[in-house]
This record gives sequence, C-alpha cells and structure tokens, in this order.
Amino acid sequence: MEHSFMFPLLFLLLITLPLSAESKCSKSCDLALASYYLWNNDSSLLYISHIMQSNLLHKVEDIVRYNKHTSYPSHTRVNVPIPCDCINDGEFLGHTFQYSVTRGDDYLTIANGTFSNLVTAEWLQNINSYSQAAIPAGGKVNVTVNCSCGDSNISKDYGLFITYPLRPEDSLQSIANQTKLDPELLMKYNPGVNFSKGSGLVYIPGRDENGNYAPLRPRTGLPDRVVAGISVGIVAVVLLLAFCVCIKCCGRKKKKLRTEYFASDSFVNTSIEKSAEFSYEELAHATNNFSLDNKIGQGGFGEIYYAELNDKKAAIKKMDMKASKEFLAELKVLTHVQHLNLVHLIGYCVKDFLFLVYEYIDNGNLSEHLRNSDREPLPWSTRIQIALDSARGLEYIHEHTKPVYIHRDIKSSNILLDKSFHGKVADFGLAKLIDTGSSSAPTANMAGTFGYMPPEYVYGRVSPKLDVFAFGVVLYELISAKEAVINGGAEIKGLVALFHEVFDQPDPKEGLKELVDPRLGENYSIDSVFKMAQLANACTEADPKRRPKMRSVVVALMTLGSSTENWDIASFYENPALVNLVSGR
Ligand SMILES: Nc1ncnc2c1ncn2[C@@H]1O[C@H](COP(=O)(O)OP(=O)(O)OP(=O)(O)O)[C@@H](O)[C@H]1O
Ligand SMILES: *[C@@H]1O[C@H](CO)[C@@H](O)[C@H](O)[C@H]1NC(C)=O
Ligand SMILES: *[C@@H]1O[C@H](CO)[C@@H](O)[C@H](O)[C@H]1NC(C)=O
Ligand SMILES: *[C@@H]1O[C@H](CO)[C@@H](O)[C@H](O)[C@H]1NC(C)=O
Ligand SMILES: *[C@@H]1O[C@H](CO)[C@@H](O)[C@H](O)[C@H]1NC(C)=O
Ligand SMILES: *[C@@H]1O[C@H](CO)[C@@H](O)[C@H](O)[C@H]1NC(C)=O
Ligand SMILES: *[C@@H]1O[C@H](CO)[C@@H](O)[C@H](O)[C@H]1NC(C)=O
Ligand SMILES: *[C@@H]1O[C@H](CO)[C@@H](O)[C@H](O)[C@H]1NC(C)=O
Ligand SMILES: [Mg+2]
Repeated sequence: MEHSFMFPLLFLLLITLPLSAESKCSKSCDLALASYYLWNNDSSLLYISHIMQSNLLHKVEDIVRYNKHTSYPSHTRVNVPIPCDCINDGEFLGHTFQYSVTRGDDYLTIANGTFSNLVTAEWLQNINSYSQAAIPAGGKVNVTVNCSCGDSNISKDYGLFITYPLRPEDSLQSIANQTKLDPELLMKYNPGVNFSKGSGLVYIPGRDENGNYAPLRPRTGLPDRVVAGISVGIVAVVLLLAFCVCIKCCGRKKKKLRTEYFASDSFVNTSIEKSAEFSYEELAHATNNFSLDNKIGQGGFGEIYYAELNDKKAAIKKMDMKASKEFLAELKVLTHVQHLNLVHLIGYCVKDFLFLVYEYIDNGNLSEHLRNSDREPLPWSTRIQIALDSARGLEYIHEHTKPVYIHRDIKSSNILLDKSFHGKVADFGLAKLIDTGSSSAPTANMAGTFGYMPPEYVYGRVSPKLDVFAFGVVLYELISAKEAVINGGAEIKGLVALFHEVFDQPDPKEGLKELVDPRLGENYSIDSVFKMAQLANACTEADPKRRPKMRSVVVALMTLGSSTENWDIASFYENPALVNLVSGR
C-alpha cells in the first residue's frame, strides 16, 4: 500500500527535479528522437533498447510507439525516444548514455557501428578521458547524443526533434519529401548545412506517439526561482512522507524474529517466515563487513560476496533494489524450490539493499571456464554433462515447481559449476523483481541479456520457449566457446546467426568444424558436436512453437551423453514438421 501511493510522488519528484536543476538552460525539453539506422536485423530493437537505456525510457515498446513500421528489417531508420537534457550548465542539448565497452571496441566502432553515427569518433574522444588506444574492455564510455528542442523564433508548431545522421542517399529534397515538410523550414533549423554531404547530424521535426507534429511547449510563465521553490516544497513533502513510511516499516521489522537457517535440523520445524530471513548483522559478520576481499563477482544488478554463515559457505548477492512485499513473499516461496541442478536460495535480508543468500558453488560460472585461459579447457563429455544438468534444472522450474517459473536470463554466467563440474542454474525467479523494478535501479529494468533473447521477446512475448532459445545459445557456447554476441567492429553478430549460416551450407559439418572451440583440439567427435548443434539449432528456431520443450531437450541430451550412436533427434520433438526439417539436413 505504501508503494502504490509513493510511486506517483516519486515520479513527480523525478519530473520536478530536472525542472529546477536545469533552470539555467533556456530551452531544454523532456524528449527528443534519435534516428537509428539499422545495419542488420538480428533482434535490433532489443539491441537499441539495450544500449540506449535511460531512466525514463527503456523498453522496446517505448521505441515501437514512435514508429509506424510493422517490421524492422536492416537498412531502415528507427526513431528512438531519448531524453533531451541541458549539458554542461546549459552549454548544449544532448543526452549521455553510458556504454559498456566490449572487446574490440574503439571510438570508431562505437560511433559508426553501435550508435549508428548518432555520434562521431572525434566527439567521443573529446568527451571521454580514455585515449583511443586505451579504452579498457568492460569500462564505461560516455556517449553523448546531441538533440534539439526547437526554436520559437522559427516556428511554434514544432517541439519534438529528430537527431538525424545524414547518409549518402539523403538530400534536402528526399527528406522534405518523406517528412512532407517545407525544405526551407528544414534549412532554417539547420542553417548552412549541406544535406547531401552524406554524414553529420541535422535536426528535423518529428512526430509524437499519435503521429502528429508536437508543438513547441509554451515556456512556463513562472520565473525559475519560483519553479525551484515549488520543487523544493514537493521534495520536502515527499521526504516527510517517506520518513513516515519508513518509521512504519522499521517499527514492524523489529517485531520479526531473528532466525538461523543453518541450525540444521530445526529447518523443518521453523516456519517459512522465519527460515528465510537473515539479519543484516549476520550477513555483515559473515562477509567481513562486505569487504572487497570477499567480493567474488559483479553482475548486472549487484555484487556477489563470499560468506561463511555458521561455518557453511554461502554467496550473498547485494542488490540496489527495493523489493515489494509481494516480491518478498515470492522470495519465501523460492527458498523452498530445491533441485540438484538449481542454485539454492537460502534466504534474504532487506536493509537499504536487498540481500539474497545462496548456497556457494565452488567452481565459478560456465562463461569463465569457456573463455578464461587460466582455466583448463572443459572436455567434451563434461560439456555434454553440463548441458544436461542445466537442462534438468530448467525443466524442473518449467514443469515441476508451484508456481512454475520462466527464468528469463539463461546465459553461461548464470550456470555455475560445482566441485565435480556438474552444472547448476542460478538466479531463477528474479525476473519479476527486475520487471516490477524500482526507482533506485531504473536502468536495470530490462530482464534478459542481449544475444540470448529470441525474436518474439521484442514484442514482449514471454513463454518457457524464451528459456529454450537462450539455452540453445548456451549449447552453441559449449561448442564454440564464443560469446553470445560477437563484436566484430561495426558489425555486431549473434552466435545464433553464425551457426544458422553454417546450417544453411550444403555440408554443415564442414562449417561446424571451423566453429568448434580450438581448445578442444582433436578430442571430440564431430558427430556428437553435430548432434548438439542440431539440438541448439532447434532450440533457437525463430518460431517459438517449433522449439522443443525442455523436457525433450533433457531426453535428447541424455541420449547424446550415453551413446552418440542411437541418436535420432527427430523422435524428440513434439512438432512433426521438425522431423523432416532435421532429417533433411
Ligand atoms: N552461488 C554462487 N556461488 C558461487 N559463485 C557465485 C554464486 N552466484 C554468483 N556467483 C559468481 O558471481 C558472479 C556474478 O553473479 P551475478 O548473478 O551477480 O551476475 P551475472 O550472473 O554475471 O549476471 P546477472 O546479473 O544477469 O545474473 C557469477 O558469474 C559467479 O561467477
Ligand atoms: C533480414 O530480414 C529479411 C526479411 O525479413 C530476411 O530476408 C533476411 O535474411 C534477414 N537478414 C538477416 C541477416 O537476418
Ligand atoms: C560504418 O559502417 C558501415 C557498415 O559496416 C560501413 O559500410 C562504413 O564504411 C563505415 N563508415 C566508416 C566511416 O567507417
Ligand atoms: C554536439 O554538440 C556539441 C556542442 O555544440 C558539438 O561540439 C559536437 O560536435 C556535437 N556532436 C556531434 C556528433 O555533432
Ligand atoms: C563520463 O562523464 C562523467 C561525468 O561528466 C565523468 O565523471 C567521467 O569521467 C566520464 N567518463 C570518461 C571515461 O571520461
Ligand atoms: C530569437 O530572436 C531574438 C531577437 O532576434 C533573440 O534575442 C533570441 O536569442 C532568439 N531566440 C532564439 C531561441 O534563438
Ligand atoms: C520529391 O517529390 C517530388 C514530387 O513528388 C519528385 O518529383 C521528386 O523526384 C522527389 N525527390 C526526391 C529526392 O525523392
Ligand atoms: C553538397 O555536398 C555534395 C557532396 O559532397 C556536393 O556534391 C554538393 O556540391 C554540395 N552542395 C553545395 C551547395 O555545396
Ligand atoms: Mg547471475
């Protein structure tokens, strides 16, 4: 209840703050559009929403609303809504995105490839402290996309502007034709610009969600100081309310009993309520006050710490998130989901942050075993085993838990390996938390990881087949040790596309050999690899209905593990159409 009435207020706060903070800027507006030219059509909208996230706009649906396309093939322009802020105390208008550098990136590939020329390499070099040669992989680069809010001296009819990178095929006339705008007007907004020069930015009036040109918003009649005063007032009220709510919560929290999960046998007797909750003091004690020495990992939503809780090893995930009461209730249910191939959630704690306590899994995640040269290469038989283990974990949450879960973030870093190199699926059941989100972690609102998401997810369709697709990508990783997204300069290619190309060749086995992890040397059977690739291929079908269920995947992998001779992939499908498809290859 507190939440439902806090949110509008927080939202108000969000809106009001920029108003007062940006009072120096004479013409900032909330929104602009960035014209993103799609180089390729491999889940591109997702990719855009992934790189151009902001706290107000982050979803694919936000993008779709500003475009009238029914599909998004390559070589189309997409209008992406972005905030338009005053930068450097009103020096110019733009919005800065933080881009996480991946291997092989430099300013040119970020500008021309990733951001589709909405920025230039020189501009990036200008606003970032890294020199061109020393951009650290994993580091964050500021990508400031310029924008415009219009000009009342030119026309009051246009208040929403597209930042439009010119391409060689553009000219003043072609843009005027497409937008049905007067070329003279376009020139006025871009004085002295040669629209045929093939590169560089121009600003052209854009249409809102309803397809209308949005008029210039009248400047508020109030002097900035009054506006600032009002915002301060609102802030004070919000703080006061937050304070009251806090007092209410804290008062209640004290009543809760401190509990000890690890007091072994007592687990069965203690009620659900108690067994799952830890006190902050317990967790701080178990992690040396969350010391850096105890930190073992960093994920998209928080940090992971090694802990020793009552002499048992645990991993604690510290998330900068507010969990709703409903979500905490769900966490309690989650602590009761136990399976050999699932990383067990032992409990949680809420204190400023949300802390999740998991069983500790000794051998790290699959991703590092595949790609970190410090690790011994995993033998092929172990890879089949890990695939089978994770498939079993997934099948369990898809079919045997109450309620059933869709993982939504299957990837090699969420598959952990125990002492004997058996796979365990981590982080299931969290998608909901991420989805309902919280005001404190706005940029983390999108569940899922680019490269593992199926085409239908662009339109927000969620089913267990989402996990099947991502699992297929993990199988491809097991075969090739390549990352799910291969960043080859300006061209960003998914592992899925790479393998699908191989299957389109007359002799897929030949192409497949090229993709097999070189660290396997000669120690694999190409037939076995081929069969796993076929399975992955089926899992990553564009049409979710054609993908097998995890149940069938488990059976297929069991057969693959026990003997590579009697393999008949066709018999594992629900869908008879697949029989022909697979045997035809
Ligand atoms: N229970 C655990 N036992 C041992 N190590 C773990 C455990 N959970 C996580 N880790 C380590 O910490 C790393 C970070 O985990 P985390 O879940 O925060 O991020 P991620 O899996 O990379 O991404 P995401 O936030 O999408 O899940 C993992 O990759 C793994 O190496
Ligand atoms: C892009 O989409 C078109 C039509 O939808 C399709 O024919 C083409 O193969 C796709 N290209 C890639 C690289 O996926
Ligand atoms: C930008 O990338 C495209 C597509 O890969 C390429 O054709 C073009 O030459 C690149 N432009 C520059 C300036 O590198
Ligand atoms: C963005 O605007 C700034 C300030 O006007 C300018 O210096 C910079 O070159 C612009 N960037 C691009 C990519 O046009
Ligand atoms: C990005 O911008 C922020 C804020 O202006 C600045 O502190 C940071 O150093 C910049 N990052 C780089 C890599 O220059
Ligand atoms: C509009 O014109 C007036 C007078 O010519 C000028 O002072 C003002 O700066 C202009 N405003 C903008 C936004 O260009
Ligand atoms: C723009 O439209 C006019 C009239 O419809 C046409 O004659 C002209 O060729 C078009 N120009 C371009 C560049 O598309
Ligand atoms: C604009 O640029 C194009 C391409 O560089 C050039 O051919 C044309 O002459 C230029 N037009 C003007 C008016 O400068
Ligand atoms: Mg994880």
